[in-house]
Amino acid sequence: MSLPWSPVSWRELVAAQQPDWPDELALELVLKQLATYPPLVFAGEARALTASLASVADGKAFLLQAGDCAESFDAFSADAIRDKLRLILQMAVILTYSSGVPVVKVGRIAGQFAKPRSSPTERVGEVDLPSFRGHMVNDMAPTADARMADPTRLLTAYHQASSTLNLLRAFTKGGFADLNRVHAWNQEFVASSRQGRRYEAIADGIERALRFMAACGINLDSEHQLHQVDFYTSHEALLLGYEEALTRQDSLTGDWYDCSAHLLWIGERTRALDGAHVGFLAGVANPLGCKLGPSATADEVIGLCEVLNPDKVPGRLTLVTRMGADAVEDRLRPLLRAVKGSGHPVVWACDPMHGNTFTSVGGRKTRHLDAVLAEITGFFAAHRAEGTFPGGVHVELTGDDVTECLGGAEEVLDAHLDQRYETMCDPRLNARQSLDLAFRLAELLRAA
Ligand code: PEP
Ligand code: CO
Repeated sequence: MSLPWSPVSWRELVAAQQPDWPDELALELVLKQLATYPPLVFAGEARALTASLASVADGKAFLLQAGDCAESFDAFSADAIRDKLRLILQMAVILTYSSGVPVVKVGRIAGQFAKPRSSPTERVGEVDLPSFRGHMVNDMAPTADARMADPTRLLTAYHQASSTLNLLRAFTKGGFADLNRVHAWNQEFVASSRQGRRYEAIADGIERALRFMAACGINLDSEHQLHQVDFYTSHEALLLGYEEALTRQDSLTGDWYDCSAHLLWIGERTRALDGAHVGFLAGVANPLGCKLGPSATADEVIGLCEVLNPDKVPGRLTLVTRMGADAVEDRLRPLLRAVKGSGHPVVWACDPMHGNTFTSVGGRKTRHLDAVLAEITGFFAAHRAEGTFPGGVHVELTGDDVTECLGGAEEVLDAHLDQRYETMCDPRLNARQSLDLAFRLAELLRAA
């Protein structure tokens, strides 16, 4: 018989992917301090996201979850946050305008600082160093000092998440996300490209529609949906001490919420049914995600649904599949069939990034936009075949003009990868490639 859930009960279970903290006492002191800090998000906001995701599960909305693979303590600026937000707003506009489906917007942002690694150490020259685990844990520089896990980084992560969230709230509620500004979201380096011009055409259409409605006597000033956007935060709940410290009991319902972000997800490497990550997140009432790679079996997935969403609450659980372009249809269809048969009301989202990573000729970790689009196409095909709803995408992108992924209408070639390869971890789509993806997605969504 298992003990009742509490924010600390995960400590009895096996927690994969935790850093080797050199000083347990220093870690516990930091966690104690974090536990006294204000929550970053509120329970009511997490419930609103669950409700929006319930309409995705019901086939009436689409989920766009996007942002960095790993946020950086160094590349932390208002401009970078603004540019990422406006790219996500642009993508949402393309999807909504082309398909008529509302888009639920969730950033991989304001807390996405910790990374799971396939190996705990990395060979650098003649020595084995601890792997880089994200700025919440250590630094990327290839020295023993830099790679030492430092718990004070958890405090820095909290403060950076807090100011990022503060700016996001200001941008989304304070005028920047006003639909009247739809043209201003197009950045200069994007506007001159083919994707940028396609976007301008949509922005023109929206402007005309707004003018038309105003001319009909509709008071657009009073329609707050036109002037504000609901934008939610998410990250992989990897470092369970940090998540525990930010878990608070909601005074209204008595339920526990992990107040470090609106949505938390479980990674492909930490989704063991009897592991600490699943055990911890099962007890918080936030909407949850769970990654599923090509090795996921139907039994495992049904098990995850039962543990993470025993009451079958629509919007509670989003299954994020990352199978690889070649495997997606074969791997996904049995899972769709099994979950449908079980009556679990999940959101299905496609992560077309993590199953399509390879090393370029020049030694860079990269992805080709064609493979990314092929996985999304296969995802839609699998859902069409099984009669289920392709509910969303989960992508790694940046608003910057980087050269990390190959391909796109303004093609990034192997030889370009060194020009602006700036990611902390996995390669991200740049702004133009992200718009390419949004236009393709809009076509698929319309057809679905
Ligand atoms: C990620 O989303 O950055 C990640 C590590 O994904 P996965 O757990 O699917 O490998
Ligand atoms: Co990644």
